[in-house]
Amino acid sequence: MEFNNVNFDTYFKNYPNEEGYFGKYGGAYITPELKKAMDEITEAYFTICKSRKFIDELRRIRREFQGRPTPISHLERLSNYIGDVQLYAKREDLNHTGAHKLNHCMGEALLAKYMGKKKIIAETGAGQHGVALATAAAYFGMECDIYMGSVDIKKQAPNVARMKILGANVVEVTHGLATLKEAVDAAFEAYSREYKDCIYCIGSVVGPHPFPMMVRDFQSVVGFEANEQFVRMTGELPDAVTACVGGGSNSAGFFAGFLNYPVDIYGVEPLGRGTKLGDHAASLQYGEEGVMHGFNSVMLKDENGEPAPVYSVASGLDYPSSGPEHAFLRDLGRVKYDTVSDDEAIDAFFLLSRMEGIIPAIESSHAVAHAIRLAKQMKHGSILINLSGRGDKDMDYIIEHYADRLK
Ligand SMILES: Cc1ncc(COP(=O)(O)O)c(C=O)c1O
Repeated sequence: MEFNNVNFDTYFKNYPNEEGYFGKYGGAYITPELKKAMDEITEAYFTICKSRKFIDELRRIRREFQGRPTPISHLERLSNYIGDVQLYAKREDLNHTGAHKLNHCMGEALLAKYMGKKKIIAETGAGQHGVALATAAAYFGMECDIYMGSVDIKKQAPNVARMKILGANVVEVTHGLATLKEAVDAAFEAYSREYKDCIYCIGSVVGPHPFPMMVRDFQSVVGFEANEQFVRMTGELPDAVTACVGGGSNSAGFFAGFLNYPVDIYGVEPLGRGTKLGDHAASLQYGEEGVMHGFNSVMLKDENGEPAPVYSVASGLDYPSSGPEHAFLRDLGRVKYDTVSDDEAIDAFFLLSRMEGIIPAIESSHAVAHAIRLAKQMKHGSILINLSGRGDKDMDYIIEHYADRLK
């Protein structure tokens, strides 16, 4: 399928290019020292990860440890409640550890093992990536340092406890807004010091090349599985697919399975409290081109051109940029990006819980809210939601802030 002069039959061969660019977005804006480390990872990725041995081992891990393939559920009661459009969910909440993050963590940690690294390092926002990486570290017997902002440590206490139980070292980051951006800054700094013995396992399709490509490729299992399962289940493709976008990993992997098909694709960003800078984290909607964390993409900027403070009720979505591939797909028009506010996401959180018996992560609730809005506009057809994670990690926050809705 061709779309605005991009041939999607050969898309994964051509995007990103050798320097890690999706059009003008991507690349590696880092020190020569770190560039050497990234080149080592790129080289290892293309040799090790494409080998039969690696592919077979990762497939076995996905099947026997992660519980893949995850199912697709027909959200029948919710669909009937809204109208005639049929809603479905790809259940990444049922992936081991409760979110999609484990898909790339097991891939990255397996690569680290093949490269002879003894330690893995990363940042985390909602704690899902941290838990997934701590899980991978325990599975492969590696040391693991997770950098996390103090605001998120407080908000996501159960995930902090899980990381510690799994044997990871949680490093608190206190500067700035003390959320995801600062955690990435601190993890990168640590990696620059320790790169010879460890590997940085980034939590999304962001950072310098090869991370946006590598994380997308590991996550694409979700999209390819979902395409095949949906057709087997219903006899046709979904009319639309939708996923939430923070850094953009669950969406990039999910979209990968549908880019080359006649399916409308939607990415959903967090509108938080509103459109004012500082009240949301919708970088694809309101950002401009800019470089941060070693890659060129869209970015929400303050008056000095620095990454602006961002906010979302979902810790995993409050990042001032998005992966370069998303910026590219947005410019191309192949994926449409929309926003959902905190209030809409929380309403969807309770609706899905009460109509389907599925408690979603607040991040994933953004995609659910968007699908509900879309279903009302479409009148008929089908929508497949990527339910990127479950809401267990959000229980304390919901109990504290939405006690009135629990009566
Ligand atoms: C359940 C869940 N969904 C989505 C996200 C957002 O990340 P990404 O945009 O990389 O998928 C997170 C991040 O922590 C998450 O925990």
